[in-house]
Amino acid sequence: MAISSSATMAVALTSSLVVCSLFSIASAGNFYQDFDITWGDGRAKILNGGQLLTLSLDKASGSGFQSRNEYLFGKIDMQLKLVPGNSAGTVTAYYLSSQGPSHDEIDFEFLGNLSGDPYTLHTNVFSQGKGNREQQFKLWFDPTKDFHTYSILWNAQIIIFYVDGTPIRYFRNNEAKGVPFPKNQPMRIYSSLWNGEAWATRGGLVKTDWSKAPFFSSFRNFNADACVWSRGTSRCPSGKASWMNRVLDAATLARIKSVQNKYMIYNYCSDARRFPKGFPLECTIA
Ligand SMILES: *[C@@H]1O[C@H](CO)[C@@H](O)[C@H](O)[C@H]1NC(C)=O
Repeated sequence: MAISSSATMAVALTSSLVVCSLFSIASAGNFYQDFDITWGDGRAKILNGGQLLTLSLDKASGSGFQSRNEYLFGKIDMQLKLVPGNSAGTVTAYYLSSQGPSHDEIDFEFLGNLSGDPYTLHTNVFSQGKGNREQQFKLWFDPTKDFHTYSILWNAQIIIFYVDGTPIRYFRNNEAKGVPFPKNQPMRIYSSLWNGEAWATRGGLVKTDWSKAPFFSSFRNFNADACVWSRGTSRCPSGKASWMNRVLDAATLARIKSVQNKYMIYNYCSDARRFPKGFPLECTIA
């Protein structure tokens, strides 16, 4: 009974996928189809028929997964619920990255904290191998109580980071002014839960309480409205997706500024001690 009904499901799923792909490459995610668990020796688990993925971390190892597809531009959403309670020293990383020494990368990293103390949302952008563009935020909710949506909008002009639909950060294409922008290398989605006790919580002063292990972070509702890279070309959704031609309009910029005023706790562009010879170029023009 169980076998025959799941076989029927699989057939239905396959035929609906074929129909879908005629219209759009965008896919509402199923973790079995879209991701591979890449490490952690059984600590990462896909549950609920592919609707939920959990990562776990204990003293011996963390765990991680990556997307099967590589993407070159898109709007990519994932819902995360982070390690609750005393999560000090744990890091849940969720990011896009290409490969090779001059790789591009767009990062969300969630730095755990002692019970009752807030998480830090750490973000970064690497372009052609160069990062050092950290901005950190506190969140306006407890990210361990419920799932929240973390999104990246990425096209040839702009990268925008969103939390529950609120834009929190942008990185603009300033190639004309000499700042490399990630736009030629396809990226995979990666995520991991790992031990960052050497630096993650108050600069490494607060260590992980391993008596509370294993730690868990959960993922659901993956959605990639994105161009999928295949054999040297990028196949984009057929309709006019609103993310494709998105630029940084005045309203979005104003919104980002007001969110940053309230919630940004670190900005590389204001860390003068770190850049004694002058700020990175994009800080002076963006
Ligand atoms: C942890 O909590 C402290 C105290 O509220 C806060 O200053 C810090 O930014 C939080 N995050 C990390 C990663 O230490």
